Amino acid sequence: WFENCREKRGMPWRKKYNPELSMDQKGQRAYEIWVSEVMLQQTQVNTVIAYWERWIEKWPTITDLAKADVEEVNAMWRGLGYYRRARSLLAGAKTVMSKTKYQGRLPDDPIILEKEIDGVGRYTAGAICSIAYGIRTPIVDGNIHRLFTRLLALHAPQTAPSTIKSLWTSAEELVGRLPKDKERKGITGDWNQALMELGSQVCKPLSPDCQVCPLKSSCKAYAELSSSPPKPSERL
Ligand code: ADE
Repeated sequence: WFENCREKRGMPWRKKYNPELSMDQKGQRAYEIWVSEVMLQQTQVNTVIAYWERWIEKWPTITDLAKADVEEVNAMWRGLGYYRRARSLLAGAKTVMSKTKYQGRLPDDPIILEKEIDGVGRYTAGAICSIAYGIRTPIVDGNIHRLFTRLLALHAPQTAPSTIKSLWTSAEELVGRLPKDKERKGITGDWNQALMELGSQVCKPLSPDCQVCPLKSSCKAYAELSSSPPKPSERL
């Protein structure tokens, strides 16, 4: 679905995963993905693209970013808001460059990333590791959250820690089932991005395009909606 669908949006940081790249080249991809994911945390793709391009032009590598100062980084972020995100990119770059153990690149282990790199939570760690390093690690962002709660028709409080935990568990189970053949190494990054795209472009918050959804036939919310219209209080 993701390969050819019209919903797949072009994003300058989206490059096909290539298992042949050296660790340094993958590290460069990880830097680019990290910057994009931090920008995307509270900002729409359309706005992020120009900011991302300017950022990468000014600091093409994590080595360049580590030498920046906070005023420059804040100036580059002007208009995006939530400046803490910019400061955590700077702090993260400094951390990576300050210790030889990182070898000048972001770690490729989601647990270490989350623990040691400023501002990186489970989602961002999973995105970096799956998309840039081809690691089999799940992600759940707001789009995947909505997609899964509909798919499973979870009539549970959406933000309850138990709901969130069970969605991460489902996401983990699903990436565990992806094909393991060598040719498809790196498939987890595409899988995760396909789920986000499906959530944001098809399984939209207010008016989902169920008719074009590739998961329609296994979607419990769709089945429930088709059999009995929901009361307003039950709308997903
Ligand atoms: N939102 C945040 N990161 C994304 C990505 N890599 N693909 C699609 N939507 C996203």
